[in-house]
Amino acid sequence: MAYMALYRAWRPQGFSEVVGQEQTVTAIRNAVRTGRLAHAYLFSGPRGTGKTSIAKIISKAANCEDLRDGEPCNQCSSCQDINNGNFMDVIEIDAASNRGIDEIRDLREKVRILPAQGKCKVYIIDEVHMLTNEAFNALLKTLEEPPDSVIFILATTESNKIPATIRSRCQNYQFRLLTLPEITQRLREVAAVNEMNIEESALQLIARRAQGGLRDALGTLDQVYSYKGPDITKQDVLEALGLVDDVFIAELLDKVLANDTTGLLSLLAAAIAQGKEPEQLVREMVQYLRDLMFYITLGHTVELTVATNDTLSLLEKQRSLVNIDKLLKALRLMTDSGQKLRFSESQRLTLEITFLELAALFAAPAAVTDEKTQKSTVPTPPPPAQNKARSQAPDPLWAKILAGVREVKVPTHALLSQGRLLGIKEDTAYIGYRKGYKFHKERMEEKANREILEGVLKELSGRTIEVQFIFLDDDQYNDIIVKKAIELFGPDIVEIKD
Ligand SMILES: Nc1ncnc2c1ncn2[C@@H]1O[C@H](COP(=O)(O)OP(=O)(O)OP(=O)(O)O)[C@@H](O)[C@H]1O
Ligand SMILES: [Mg+2]
Ligand SMILES: [Zn+2]
Repeated sequence: MAYMALYRAWRPQGFSEVVGQEQTVTAIRNAVRTGRLAHAYLFSGPRGTGKTSIAKIISKAANCEDLRDGEPCNQCSSCQDINNGNFMDVIEIDAASNRGIDEIRDLREKVRILPAQGKCKVYIIDEVHMLTNEAFNALLKTLEEPPDSVIFILATTESNKIPATIRSRCQNYQFRLLTLPEITQRLREVAAVNEMNIEESALQLIARRAQGGLRDALGTLDQVYSYKGPDITKQDVLEALGLVDDVFIAELLDKVLANDTTGLLSLLAAAIAQGKEPEQLVREMVQYLRDLMFYITLGHTVELTVATNDTLSLLEKQRSLVNIDKLLKALRLMTDSGQKLRFSESQRLTLEITFLELAALFAAPAAVTDEKTQKSTVPTPPPPAQNKARSQAPDPLWAKILAGVREVKVPTHALLSQGRLLGIKEDTAYIGYRKGYKFHKERMEEKANREILEGVLKELSGRTIEVQFIFLDDDQYNDIIVKKAIELFGPDIVEIKD
């Protein structure tokens, strides 16, 4: 037997099987009960929310030989033929196709022909917003003088494109997105009937990703089911859809909020090593930040799209670490970066910079007022154990340099801030990084970043100073003297240590 896709197998056969859309269902079912179906309906609403399904139920109800309390019986030959698509008087027209337009043109004569098989002809016109003006006019003429035994059901996802003249001749029903509980419940039912064994977080993930469309939800379940069989884990869903685990994204944001750039970059490296696409990581982070925003403002999980129960504890922690203002800036930064990534030649670098910028954004003081506050919040790395005594006090020259660099380019600042100024000797400034900060050191050595730093040094000292980046743990540079720095910058901004 041919396998029938779940979303088709689970097309509601009667009004009572429709999920949600209560007002529409109640009104139409009452009209069937009292024999007062309208001549024309306009169903507008998002994809996969039941428009075609209800149109089919109406077709059956209008032709059923054994109506039961406003429900088609699904047993009589009319109902069965309609269910199998073999009923001559139910005519489906896809307005988006060329043939559809021809069919509308022919409509005016054809509607006059009496039903061939049943009691009532039903025209279901899908994607009706796609009709040309000419076709709309033809349709309008038909709607103006509808024969008795004909029902038109127009369906569209873009009701704003339907001319008012057409709209005013139809009974209008607005379909809504289905809620998360509605979708989860239906998925649970489908899984049970098909004897699937599906993890709760897998179910949630599918439902959230469907964003209110039941067809998509069932389609996803189907996809995972056919690839994995009846035992389905969250991991299976992630793989089938090529998604990134929300827990991973949540942990990534943890590093961002801690301004732990090393941890952040190594997580990104791991994701890329696993074959995750930079664009996808950014996209998922956008969704996650959006979830966080909804979680902060609404305080419940109903609106979340990527975060599942697995990330609730992290979300809960993160909500206290951010404010809406920063979150909005972060969302803007990430959506812009998504665009940039598409055209980037080095996607990985763009990705890394994006996340470093994100960390810098959250680490920056909420409102920078004067230089003093700016200086005190410049992140300085914890000193290596053996040099503790030497670098406890914040270095005002270093703070000046960092502030200057930050003004030119935030990502460069993020790279530089993980190092520290060791000293200046013979027109060369030495910047030290701890061993674990190899990435930062190497990025700073690149021409673009180096030039920014040299530009700032020149501005501060009035002369050309080269920079050299070294690892702090190498003892060979210990004789670098601070004296030269005093010469260059003057004693008031150079602090002598030791
Ligand atoms: N409200 C609903 N109740 C039950 N099942 C639904 C509902 N909405 C969608 N479905 C499921 O999704 C499938 C597709 O739904 P349907 O064709 O009615 O969507 P639609 O609104 O016409 O979408 P489109 O705008 O893409 O044509 C159905 O076969 C059914 O499995
Ligand atoms: Mg449809
Ligand atoms: Zn019937």
